[in-house]
Amino acid sequence: MNNFKRGFLWGGAVAAHQVEGAWQKDGKGISVADVMTAGTNDISREITKGVLPNKNYPNHDAIDFYERYKEDIALFAEMGFKCFRTSIAWSRIFPNGDDEKPNEAGLRFYDDLFDECLKYGIEPVITLSHFEIPWHLVEKYNGFANRKTIDFFVHFAVTCFERYKNKVKYWMTFNEINNQADFNNDISMVTNSGLLLDDYNNNEAEMYQSAHYELVASALAVKKGKKINSEFMMGAMISYIPVYPVSSDPQDMLLAQKFNQRRLWFSDVQVWGEYPKETENYTEQNNLISDITEEDRVILKEGTVDYIGFSYYQSMTVSAKNVNIDQIKSPMEMVVKNPHLKINEWGWSIDPLGLRYGLNELTDRYHLPLFIVENGLGAIDKVENDGSIHDLYRIDYLRKHLQEAKKAVTFDGVDLIGYTSWGCIDLVSAGTGQMSKRYGFIYVDKDDKGNGTLERSKKDSFYWYQRVIQTNGKEL
Ligand code: BG6
Repeated sequence: MNNFKRGFLWGGAVAAHQVEGAWQKDGKGISVADVMTAGTNDISREITKGVLPNKNYPNHDAIDFYERYKEDIALFAEMGFKCFRTSIAWSRIFPNGDDEKPNEAGLRFYDDLFDECLKYGIEPVITLSHFEIPWHLVEKYNGFANRKTIDFFVHFAVTCFERYKNKVKYWMTFNEINNQADFNNDISMVTNSGLLLDDYNNNEAEMYQSAHYELVASALAVKKGKKINSEFMMGAMISYIPVYPVSSDPQDMLLAQKFNQRRLWFSDVQVWGEYPKETENYTEQNNLISDITEEDRVILKEGTVDYIGFSYYQSMTVSAKNVNIDQIKSPMEMVVKNPHLKINEWGWSIDPLGLRYGLNELTDRYHLPLFIVENGLGAIDKVENDGSIHDLYRIDYLRKHLQEAKKAVTFDGVDLIGYTSWGCIDLVSAGTGQMSKRYGFIYVDKDDKGNGTLERSKKDSFYWYQRVIQTNGKEL
């Protein structure tokens, strides 16, 4: 049986704001993650207008990776990581986002971090914007609702490309750019585009227009990056969620297809350099992108990506019952429970086969190498009296997903270049702000209130993943 290819990029993934902490250290500015309070499974995170006293902002200190990265990378190296995915906190480099000159201390931090990875032969895989837009850009410019933000992003991207051109090869522009398909969700809109929904009366139009500017920014960054180093691998990054029809009723089938189109047009533009027909038609009829120039279209064509990075956690199922398919607005409203799948404690379906399905779908659609840059199980872990953590549920989840990925490589011929498990070390959940929603192979002693020693310890999954990497996925 074939296996994962030689040089397969095994590793783990995090994002700067979910691990670093040090939110004001060495000149860092406030980012959107710094104004998000802690939530729970039932209570959404609050987005406050600036940092307010007496609120709990879990990203301010996170897991103190900023000070402890050497210890953490040594643990990743012990597991045998070939790569490590993180992001560059935009507001460490440009504290306000619209500054002319970058913050040298911020740049130096990532120099040191990447050097530390490279010392162990760990390749950094870097996302430029992972839910970390500088807060000043939100307040002053309404984030990507403003065309000017394209220039701020490109300035940031080029600064990073120039600085790290000999250290980083794999880049992604915007994390899960298509999350905002769910345009009534306050959190996705502010984290992805820097939009505060209170300020708008047509969320859908704001989303399409801002996403268009982001796509132009992404394409410009890709194009300029390639000029700086032609060896760069420039990736899209989407949240891939296969959408299943709840039944074989053609109405359900068609709705699932529509839902899929509404989630994938972002990466369609990044790969094809043009809008797919459905999106072009839909946005024209509903006047959703009022500012798109001929120059934008040329830029989109010239800045297409080399690979698709994607996250995979779950699938979704939709029902067309009582729905007029030609008038769907937010397709999220049609999501129903899939009777064949179990869900985790946060209500996310567990569907390993969906990963194989997705790898095939994305291959058929894009004909590009694929990189699974996030996959994992958020769960509550129990520390035993002797300090051990038996996270067999996590091993089970990851094993089943990797088995399906292996089948996609072996039986379906998918070109898969790597796999980075999400939250390889416990971190602050993006959705809820909790610490107790843990993904890591490495446990971090910190609770939802911020108490704990921050000490790191190895879970059972640590040793399991070490063996997976050692055998290049032969033993799962
Ligand atoms: C992805 C994000 O959506 O899912 C991560 O890229 C996030 O930043 C991950 O942490 C898991 O989601 P959550 O809400 O469990 O942290």
